[in-house]
Amino acid sequence: MLYPEELIEEVRLRNDIVDVISSYLKLERKGKTYFGLCPFHSEKTPSFSVEPAKQFFYCFGCNKGGSVIQFIMDIEHLEFTDALKLLADRAGIVLPEPEDPGEREKSRRRKEILEINKKAARYFFSLLTGNQGVLARNYLKKRGLTEKTVRKFGLGVSPGGRDELTRYLMAEGADGGLLVDSGLSIRSENGTLTDRFRNRLMFPIFNIRGDIIGFGGRVLDDSLPKYMNSPETLIYNKSRELYGLNYARKSKSSKLLIVEGYMDVISLHQAGIDFAVASLGTALTQSQAWILKKYADEVIICYDSDAAGQNATVRGLEILEKVGCRTKVLLMPEGKDPDEYIRNNGPEKFKNLIDGALSLLDYKIRVKKNMYNQNTVEDRLELLNSIADILAEHDNSIERELYAQDYARQYGISLESLQDEIRKRMNKNHRSEGPRKINSPASSDLPRVDNRYGELEYMLIIMLCMENRLYSTVAKKYGIESFKDEGAKEVAKRLFAKLEHNNSCVLAELLSELSPSLSSYLTGLASKKCNVEDTEKAILHLLQKLEILYLEDLQKQTIERIKNEQDGIKRQELGLEFSKRAERIATLKKMA
Ligand code: UTP
Ligand code: MN
Repeated sequence: MLYPEELIEEVRLRNDIVDVISSYLKLERKGKTYFGLCPFHSEKTPSFSVEPAKQFFYCFGCNKGGSVIQFIMDIEHLEFTDALKLLADRAGIVLPEPEDPGEREKSRRRKEILEINKKAARYFFSLLTGNQGVLARNYLKKRGLTEKTVRKFGLGVSPGGRDELTRYLMAEGADGGLLVDSGLSIRSENGTLTDRFRNRLMFPIFNIRGDIIGFGGRVLDDSLPKYMNSPETLIYNKSRELYGLNYARKSKSSKLLIVEGYMDVISLHQAGIDFAVASLGTALTQSQAWILKKYADEVIICYDSDAAGQNATVRGLEILEKVGCRTKVLLMPEGKDPDEYIRNNGPEKFKNLIDGALSLLDYKIRVKKNMYNQNTVEDRLELLNSIADILAEHDNSIERELYAQDYARQYGISLESLQDEIRKRMNKNHRSEGPRKINSPASSDLPRVDNRYGELEYMLIIMLCMENRLYSTVAKKYGIESFKDEGAKEVAKRLFAKLEHNNSCVLAELLSELSPSLSSYLTGLASKKCNVEDTEKAILHLLQKLEILYLEDLQKQTIERIKNEQDGIKRQELGLEFSKRAERIATLKKMA
């Protein structure tokens, strides 16, 4: 941990969770608990709860939960330390520079890389506008980019020599290590440095604040590889960035359009479609989906219409759906990318494509339709079946109805037979799957919990947080070494250490030190199973249950040993041990 525990705890204490969460969503009080619509999954009735007394949140729908720090990490997509900084600022607490020398070094390095990237970008830009830049300038003109656009996106060109940039930056005072760490230079086997980008059109990659975190470099002809990109560095994590978001987030539109490439984003922005971003040639990731959700009410996917693009679209839709994004799909006419399309047809035509973007359902069905050519009876039957499958999975009954009418007409099938098929499937789905599970990011990474001891041990931890004065009782009867679940043991160690030393610890304090999945699990348990009137009684009860569980395990072992024991006297001893223990179990069970 970077900061001392007391400081983290002070930041937490000075940020009331109800206040903080209220600035993100509307909370309504019901009894002791506040409820609102969960910001982490889409829902129509509130299942997101905030406990002012215990200072944690928990969503009964998607199982996310934790302390106020966790909430800020999730909603702002921040690392722990940055979430802490935000909350410290909010409460007017000044955090010291990180204590950890390794961290301090890293944060200095990050600043240096940002600085060197900026220098490199300026250099690339000056080459583009200077004498050497004729070729690249002509290329950009040919592709229809204006000077203003070139400036706005900070385009440039990299020098052609093997180490021109490296030498330039070194002359400016950079050392070799930094050049390698930034990804601008590559250290060859004999130890010399060469430029990563040579004679390429350079696209600086900006983060959301507009800092340059990396580069993409395109060849000026048809040679391969078409693009070279910065490697992952201390400041560049490809799976978390979206090219163009620094501009798109300022758009008046509440939509975001995801396209594939640098050139697409730039062309679209130039054409006034200023809400385009690119996932930079890789499949959309969950972190990107969270970011898109944060900045847009609706996300439109606009990938190539080829097979690879279709796959990427389906995967992207799944990921976006999972985080609760409203999504649509823009179908590009065969073989075109948005940049080409705009150049040939103008922005208005492209805006029409946006207006005609397909809903998720329409898209799924369109893909099926293209699979079957519909000339044969078999094909039509397959299509009918697929449509019924897709509609049966759709939650909203009104939409289901409307779409069914529409599709029946469109594909020339009778509405009754389609509705019949849908009904059959829905009945089956219900019987075989039980209630539909909510797609939630949290439920997929629940911590592994020993299914016999784990839950009880975690409950013991939670209740001990509620009733610190029972620490010595618990420690005596169920010390650290008694914990069977490895995860619970670790948490218990932390809690016991706190109670031993500074004699108090509430659940929210503990939560802010745990992983997101574990704190979600614990808040879930606290909300569902630990709301008891008499905590002391509940703790004693848990201790009894745990003891019974343990004694019963010992009994099983004893039975095995009796079976295998040759020596009669020893067998008798074991038998005695067994019956004594059986008595104890019986007493405990009677008390429980
Ligand atoms: P495209 O091949 O569609 O490139 O790849 P583009 O952006 O449309 O470029 P133009 O129009 O041919 O100039 C889409 C994205 O995939 C990544 C880049 O981010 C690119 O913008 N890509 C592509 C690479 O990283 N490396 C490659 O070799 C090719
Ligand atoms: Mn292109």
